[in-house]
Amino acid sequence: MVQEPTILGIETSCDDTAAALVRGRAILSDVVLRQDDLHAAFGGVVPEIAARAHAEKIDLAVLRALSDADLTLDAVDAVAVTAGPGLIGGVLSGVMCAKGIAAARGLPLVGVNHLAGHALTPRLTDAVAFPYLLLLVSGGHCQFLRVDGPTAFVRLGGTIDDAPGEAFDKVARLLGLPQPGGPAVEACARNGAPGIPLPRPLLDRPGCDMSFSGLKTAVLRARDAASARDGGLRMSVRADLCSSFQAAVADILAAKTRAALHAAPGVGAICVAGGVAANGAVRDALRGATALPLIAPPLALCTDNAAMIAYAGGVRLALGLRDGMDLAARPRWPLDGDAAPMLGSGKRGAKA
Ligand code: KG4
Ligand code: ZN
Repeated sequence: MVQEPTILGIETSCDDTAAALVRGRAILSDVVLRQDDLHAAFGGVVPEIAARAHAEKIDLAVLRALSDADLTLDAVDAVAVTAGPGLIGGVLSGVMCAKGIAAARGLPLVGVNHLAGHALTPRLTDAVAFPYLLLLVSGGHCQFLRVDGPTAFVRLGGTIDDAPGEAFDKVARLLGLPQPGGPAVEACARNGAPGIPLPRPLLDRPGCDMSFSGLKTAVLRARDAASARDGGLRMSVRADLCSSFQAAVADILAAKTRAALHAAPGVGAICVAGGVAANGAVRDALRGATALPLIAPPLALCTDNAAMIAYAGGVRLALGLRDGMDLAARPRWPLDGDAAPMLGSGKRGAKA
């Protein structure tokens, strides 16, 4: 039997410097060097700091991916790299590194859309059949995609302002909880109840666009009102605010998932990706929204990683798609070129 090609994947579009080796659906190694400490003092990702850290660490990540897989570059058949969308300095670091390796070794170069990496992950982890619905919910992205084939994506809707992870992070900051805010808010919510009324923006409108920035402002107002009433923010109120906010996000995502499924008849599964997919209340709400199977890849493959880029690159290579040395790094790169452009630009990079 002919062995599937071994693909080196490189991902540097936000704040994770990542390299991985993938052969078919087998992940041989998966290295992610996080930058949280570098950005912690700034309350968000600083693009210049991220770009410099990627440039310093990407070769290290590649070397570690090779040694973790017990391979050398001799065993690599192609180089796949995130060519966008994302913070341009970071994307450039990855693209330059990939071009260098491809040119030096005479290997095919494959540019991959970061969102296609997320969108095809359910095929890598669970061999989910096309078409399926993907909900991508992270700190920088929030959109529904109907995935019809390896290069066929239809964007059904998305956030018109903040991404949900961004809202979790801001709410954590408002309530004096640590970053990243999602896990901190989820932990705090366990001690509270979702009794504080908060809005569910856009639920009265058809379609599956979403909005989260008003929700965050409503948490701020509720916090200030409770603090004025009680002479400070009581721990029990903080827990109730976390629980109420989380319930509102889960409700919005569940309701809009139903709307997205309505717009995508025939899909066989709903898949989630992105850091917010780790949230238990969100997962429960999505499970309750549909009788279809909910596929949630392991968290390390839900969040940014290079295995998904290597896999998506391998899929493109198998279709005969590859790029030349003129491969460009793109800050914006909508997966679905026919969809209306999205509004806003999150702290973790341009939304596509
Ligand atoms: O996908 P990801 O690791 O990075 C990008 O945004 O690219 O997502 C990170 C986001 C952060 O905003 C974080 O607060 C959120 O995912 N997050 C969560 C949870 N774990 C991470 N949000 C809600 N509940 C969680 N358990
Ligand atoms: Zn991502």
